[in-house]
Amino acid sequence: MSQEEAGASDARYKQAAAEWAVDAFIQPGMVVGLGTGSTAAFAVRRLAALRAQGRLLDVVGVPTSRATEALARSLGVPLSTLDTHPSLDVTIDGADEVAPDLSLIKGGGGALLREKIVAQASQRVAIVADVHKLSPVLGTHRPVPVEVMAFGWRSQLRFLESLGASVTVRQAADGAPFLTDQGNLVLDCAFGPIDAPVPLALRLGARAGIVGHGLFLGITTDLVVAGPEGVEHRAR
Ligand code: A5P
Repeated sequence: MSQEEAGASDARYKQAAAEWAVDAFIQPGMVVGLGTGSTAAFAVRRLAALRAQGRLLDVVGVPTSRATEALARSLGVPLSTLDTHPSLDVTIDGADEVAPDLSLIKGGGGALLREKIVAQASQRVAIVADVHKLSPVLGTHRPVPVEVMAFGWRSQLRFLESLGASVTVRQAADGAPFLTDQGNLVLDCAFGPIDAPVPLALRLGARAGIVGHGLFLGITTDLVVAGPEGVEHRAR
């Protein structure tokens, strides 16, 4: 299979997983966290398509990034905020890597902090993914994104290296440092397979200057994964 064909089938799987999750988990009147990334975008589009059929008209979304906010607005999906709705019924979001216990690496799109805030405010967190996101051990395929304040960022880089990471400062398409929606930097930390993610997450969380990291542990309630065999739902 060529790279182009592989990309197209990944996109079909992403769409299948996202649409399955919207149909299964979103009920009338719900407040729904809208994830970020290409898979989550299929969920936003599905919600908009159902609205066009006159369904789920009273559902409101809480976006996890400016990009998702712009997409939802462009499709006419009504939006709210965590200030108005501090507790959400369900969030549907993508992931970069999914371990067998449904722990995740997220933040490939740079929205990790808002994604985690919205997910932790949600009763149900449904992760939608194509089958290639599955991994035996977190860190096998992807670095862990770590969001740091610009103030003192080189100290964070050293700290992350001391934890065993090979660190890359994320860049935007124009070569300038990538900035999150909060104006922070992202340091992509390649640890290799992470045998003990909980202590690592605790160390990252305890460090001043690190405002967020892409280890999502114990947050996923449902995984919807699509591949050549169809769509599979796993609940934690
Ligand atoms: C955004 O910051 C990420 O957490 C995304 O959810 C993740 O990168 C998945 O992206 P795709 O759905 O585009 O693969």
